[in-house]
Amino acid sequence: MLKTKVEEVLVNQIEKEAYSSNLYLAMAVWAETNGFEGVSNWLYAQAEEERLHLFKFIRYVNERGGKAVIPAIEQPPTTFASVKDMFDQVLEHETYISELINNIVGTCLQEGDFTTHTWLQWFVTEQIEEEASVRGICDKLALIGDHNLYLFDKDIMGLRAQAKSADSTGA
Ligand code: FEO
Repeated sequence: MLKTKVEEVLVNQIEKEAYSSNLYLAMAVWAETNGFEGVSNWLYAQAEEERLHLFKFIRYVNERGGKAVIPAIEQPPTTFASVKDMFDQVLEHETYISELINNIVGTCLQEGDFTTHTWLQWFVTEQIEEEASVRGICDKLALIGDHNLYLFDKDIMGLRAQAKSADSTGA
């Protein structure tokens, strides 16, 4: 059974994951309508991952005797200054989410909820991977500037496929 404090922070995270998914959808729409097919594919896939995170939190709260609350979600921005600016915002957002997950881990320790603490480790690892992959993209964009975005767009198209096949081979 979840303690009230732990349930509170988990339910709070539901809104954050839902917003993350919508934020990446909004970015995907901007990228797609500005001709960046590879970037939009990456972001649509990212939005789906965030939706999975959202479901994980909802199901976990309910399974542990709590009750998930489906929140209203703030509208994300609809335009971005550039691809680089957008990915900088993705990195900033993911760093913020990592901080939130870290705080939830802290609450679990304070409340002595080692079951939820263990369950959260998947998210801790996921955040490390997400931050690293987005940081890699931001570094690339810093190198190429506003030029060669056509090649960058083609390049990023293959990124997720590569990561998936590395995952499945355990690399
Ligand atoms: Fe679900 Fe990338 O935070």
